[in-house]
Amino acid sequence: MDCRSRVVCVTGASGYVASWLVKLLLLNGYTVKGTVRDLGKAGKVAHLKALEGAQERLLLFEADLIEEGSLDSILHDCVGLFHTASPVLYSITDPQKQLIEPSVNGTLNVLKSCTKAPSIKRVVLTSSIASVTLNRNPRGPDTIMDETWFSDRELCIETKQWYWLAKTLAEQTAVKYAEQNGIDLVVMNPGFVIGPLLQPTLNASSHFILDIIKGKNVFPDYQFVDVRDVASAHVMALEDSSANGRYILVESSVDHYEAVQFLHELVSPSHNNLHQNVTGDLTFKVSKKKAESLGLNFIPMEVSFKDMIESLKHKNFLHIWKRRDQC
Ligand SMILES: NC(=O)c1ccc[n+]([C@@H]2O[C@H](COP(=O)([O-])OP(=O)(O)OC[C@H]3O[C@@H](n4cnc5c(N)ncnc54)[C@H](OP(=O)(O)O)[C@@H]3O)[C@@H](O)[C@H]2O)c1
Repeated sequence: MDCRSRVVCVTGASGYVASWLVKLLLLNGYTVKGTVRDLGKAGKVAHLKALEGAQERLLLFEADLIEEGSLDSILHDCVGLFHTASPVLYSITDPQKQLIEPSVNGTLNVLKSCTKAPSIKRVVLTSSIASVTLNRNPRGPDTIMDETWFSDRELCIETKQWYWLAKTLAEQTAVKYAEQNGIDLVVMNPGFVIGPLLQPTLNASSHFILDIIKGKNVFPDYQFVDVRDVASAHVMALEDSSANGRYILVESSVDHYEAVQFLHELVSPSHNNLHQNVTGDLTFKVSKKKAESLGLNFIPMEVSFKDMIESLKHKNFLHIWKRRDQC
C-alpha cells in the first residue's frame, strides 16, 4: 500500500510507543493526525511539536476513547489508523473501570468511527504479548511461542492479571468487529517495550525498568523489544499490503537474572542493589519469523538497554531516584 504523503491517524499520540511512531511517520513524509486526551497539557505534547516535520504535517486533536464518536470528525481523510491508545497500568483498584472498559469499549469506539470513514484502508492495532502468553500451553526450553498462542481469559481472571485480561479482550473484540464490518485489521503484539524515551514523563513500562534497577520488580521472564522497532513494525504493517493477522514483536526473551545482568552493567556502580540472586525461569522461546517477514531487523536488546539508560539519565530519572533514595 503506497501511503506516503497521505494522512494517517495515531491515537494516544503522546505515549511512549506512539511518540516514536509519530516521529517515524513524519520522517517518512506522512501527515499525522494525533489524538491526545488533553491538549491543554502543554508538557504532554511539546515533544511532539518539536519533531522534524511536525510544524508542517502534525495535527493534534482531543479525543477520549470512552466517548463514542470522538474520532468521527478526525478520520474522514485518513488512509490508515494506528490505534495505540490504551491504559497501561499494573497497579489498580478497579480493573473493570480503569482497564477493561477503556481498553475494550475504547477499541470498539475507535473501530466504529472507522466504519464511518471510507478513506481508511487499514487499521493497525497495538495489542501486546500480554494477549499471547498467559495460557496453559505446555512449555519447555525448546517450546517456541508464536502467533497461534492466545492468552486464556479464565486464567487471566484466576491469576488477577487485569492488564493481560484487558489486552486479550480488546484484541479479541477488535478482531471480531473487524471481521463483521469489513475492516482490514493488522495486530501488533509487542513484548515488554524498552529503549529511549521521547516523552518527558515516565510511562508504566519505563517506570517498571527503573524499579528493576532499584531491586523492586521481579518477573520470572521478559520478552523485550525496542520501542523504535515497535514503531517501524507498525509502519511496515500499514505499508505492506500482504500484512495480515498478528505479529509478535520480541527481540530477546530472557529470565530475570539475565535482564538484571544487562542493567547492572549499564547503570553506574552506585546503583548496585539489583537482585543478583534470582534464579532464571525461562521456559519458552519466541518466534521472530512473522515480524521478520515484514522486513523488521531487530535492534539487539543490549543496544536498547544502553540507549534507554542513557535516555533515563539524560532526562534525570536515574538521578532523581538516587537523590530520593539518599534522603
Ligand atoms: N510499554 C510496553 O511495554 C507495551 C508492551 C506491549 C504493548 N504495549 C501497548 O502499547 C500501547 C502504548 O503503550 P505505551 O507503553 O506507549 O503507554 P503510554 O505511554 O502510557 O501510552 C498510552 C496512551 O494511551 C492513552 N490513553 C489511555 N487511556 C485513554 C483514553 N481513555 N482515551 C484516550 N487515550 C487514552 C494515554 O493518553 P494520556 O496521555 O492522556 O493518558 C497514552 O497516550 C498500549 O496499547 C499498550 O498496551 C505497550
